[in-house]
Amino acid sequence: MTLHFLQIAKKLAHDAGKMALHYQEKGFKTETKGAFNNLVTEADHAVEKLIVETIRKNFPDHSILTEESDPIQGASEYKWIIDPIDGTTNFAHGHPMFCISIALIENGKPILGVVEMPTLNETFWAKSGDGAYRNRHRISVSQKSDFKECLLAIGVPYDRGSERAEKSYKMLRGLYEQSRGVRRTGSAVMDLCFVACGRYDGYLEYGLKPWDIAAGKVIVEEAGGMVTNMDGSILNPKEENLLASNGLMHQPLMDFIRAQS
Ligand code: IPD
Repeated sequence: MTLHFLQIAKKLAHDAGKMALHYQEKGFKTETKGAFNNLVTEADHAVEKLIVETIRKNFPDHSILTEESDPIQGASEYKWIIDPIDGTTNFAHGHPMFCISIALIENGKPILGVVEMPTLNETFWAKSGDGAYRNRHRISVSQKSDFKECLLAIGVPYDRGSERAEKSYKMLRGLYEQSRGVRRTGSAVMDLCFVACGRYDGYLEYGLKPWDIAAGKVIVEEAGGMVTNMDGSILNPKEENLLASNGLMHQPLMDFIRAQS
């Protein structure tokens, strides 16, 4: 059954990616959501509509949680978690780092993740127990265990001036001083996929939402990495403070985070 879900999710992510690219070519309206720096575009809504309608048609009893609309409660144990465009600020500025993220949860546990990166021609995907893939190639996390050899990623929350934003700036500086480099992709889901395939050795961010985490979590774990809360405890899809790593860097990153607080 999960294979059927995966096939539908991959086709849907691909179609959604084409739709997003089409909007980038033809232009789109952009609005703010509450804060001046939290954007939503016409393309986010259109891609979300495509994904939700397709899931509803194929799986009418499944629940759906998306970034831009009210949740849909179904009767079954399955819930789809969707970010129609993760990296909306990038997308709105014509920056190529954005993706479509589709996850399937069974009884609260993510079992499937598909992430389409249309400008990179890369699809990351994983199904619980079957490994993680980029396009047709099996991927795995890096083997780095020394900060000095690591390329790391950190996200900074939208709520500038908040305690967690201040902590993030402090951590950015600390990581930058100890590691080979620090990146901020602008898409949490891409950051997770880049940990999964070894481009990054670790990634952390405060204030994420389930649609920023769900698909990437399955992909990192199936690639041999770890995704937890920042204190190492189990991360459920409602929790916000994420630490992902290749596994070897998990304890050193937890120690680093503890030393900063
Ligand atoms: C955002 C991105 C960004 C992260 C934010 C997310 P959006 O999602 O993933 O990297 O720092 O916390 O909200 O708004 O582009 O879908």
